[in-house]
Amino acid sequence: MTKISPSEITPEHVFLNRRAFMAAAGMAAGSLALAACAPPLGMGSDAPAEVAEPALVAAVDPDSLPEALAHADPYAGADSDELGDPLNKFQEITHYNNYYEFSTNKESVAGEAQAFKPYPWQVEVTGLVNNPLTLDLDDLYKRYPQEERIYRLRCVEAWSMVIPWVGFPISALLQDAGPTSAAQYVSFVTVFRPEEMRGQRSSILEWPYQEGLRLDEAMHPLAILATGMYGKPLTNQQGAPIRLVVPWKYGFKSGKSIVRIEVTDTIPATTWNTAAPHEYGFYANVNPNVDHPRWSQASERRIGETGRRPTLMFNGYAEEVAYLYEGMDLAKSF
Ligand code: MTE
Repeated sequence: MTKISPSEITPEHVFLNRRAFMAAAGMAAGSLALAACAPPLGMGSDAPAEVAEPALVAAVDPDSLPEALAHADPYAGADSDELGDPLNKFQEITHYNNYYEFSTNKESVAGEAQAFKPYPWQVEVTGLVNNPLTLDLDDLYKRYPQEERIYRLRCVEAWSMVIPWVGFPISALLQDAGPTSAAQYVSFVTVFRPEEMRGQRSSILEWPYQEGLRLDEAMHPLAILATGMYGKPLTNQQGAPIRLVVPWKYGFKSGKSIVRIEVTDTIPATTWNTAAPHEYGFYANVNPNVDHPRWSQASERRIGETGRRPTLMFNGYAEEVAYLYEGMDLAKSF
């Protein structure tokens, strides 16, 4: 089996170049629903349009980012030559997006999302926790060192990218909140602003978009809350200012623009599972052996490449995460 190179995961490699980030921060001063996550027509030839890198759409408090990053480990010397696969380009990552709140057309999301206002922002951590938290972005940057994590993103639609995120482990936030002994799951609820998000004025999905993980999945060191990409704050179309990234699961698990994290003792409702339970399971682990009812998951199209490449079990992160699912029938718990 093709194995992911360990350096492609690099959770311990904090190779965010602090000066580069500071510069960036300164610059930044079934139905219809059933078809929603389906490959669009003509998917084989839909390479993202070559467009200029957009100006960052919203300013981050320039004082807060550098201070937060002062906690980060120094540049670890890794570079893209180490990676098994090249990074996707900034414009590919930011102009081929699934974000149904703005548009069902991947290439229109960037434009539709321009007017969204991600600052100021608060994230609430609530539910079965001993220490409920409400943190704004400055708090998040100050409390949690921002690291760079290069991950593959594999969409359930069978396309993929390699993305250099900036973020921090969800476990750090959950540990501060202190899940009670009854805690078993974590629900991630995203923003509901129909006045700014045209898609939310229609009923293509139930809003707000929600996702969920088992508590042990959420505590896994590879699961992060991303605040940036390519050393810059997230663009609106990527889920600014904060989104989930769970690299061994299909991309729809990575909810964008998170406002509430709720620890529960029952399995949380999740948007795509609610929309089409036979097509999108709660687990949604990348698995080349379990096809989507309407297409094969055995291979994928890497954006920017021609042809297809085999899909790897758990998206290439099996060594790190397979133990979470020992004894489970992954065809049933899809
Ligand atoms: N989060 C919200 N709030 N709304 C969405 O429509 N789409 C999901 C996920 N997160 C989605 C979302 C899907 S289907 C995928 S594949 C990834 O975001 C895509 O992330 P990207 O556009 O940054 O590549």
